[in-house]
Amino acid sequence: AFIVTDNCIKCKYTDCVEVCPVDCFYEGPNFLVIDPDECIDCALCEPECPAEAIFSEDELPAGQEAFVEINADLAGKWPNITEKKDPLPDAEEWDGKPDKLQYLER
Ligand code: SF4
Ligand code: F3S
Repeated sequence: AFIVTDNCIKCKYTDCVEVCPVDCFYEGPNFLVIDPDECIDCALCEPECPAEAIFSEDELPAGQEAFVEINADLAGKWPNITEKKDPLPDAEEWDGKPDKLQYLER
């Protein structure tokens, strides 16, 4: 499956959801996740993310391993999202800041 990682937090650009052929993105207050059971590994979403926050589970950058479980867990708790919306107000400011997991709202 593909995994949404740290840099989505507090940005949530949502460009990713528009291209997913199986609509497997789920939305929380300041982050999105992919349901690993629904993702078909098409890779279409990866280049769409302005924050470069989406990776194949097989190519996760070092330090992002916790997001495998976070995506699987929160996909079962959050509502589905299929249409792009405005990013969070301070998205540009937060884009690229390290270690945003501490700010994840569940
Ligand atoms: Fe959807 Fe394809 Fe991205 Fe998986 S890899 S979340 S199926 S767009
Ligand atoms: Fe997040 Fe990137 Fe999608 S910032 S909402 S994974 S476009």
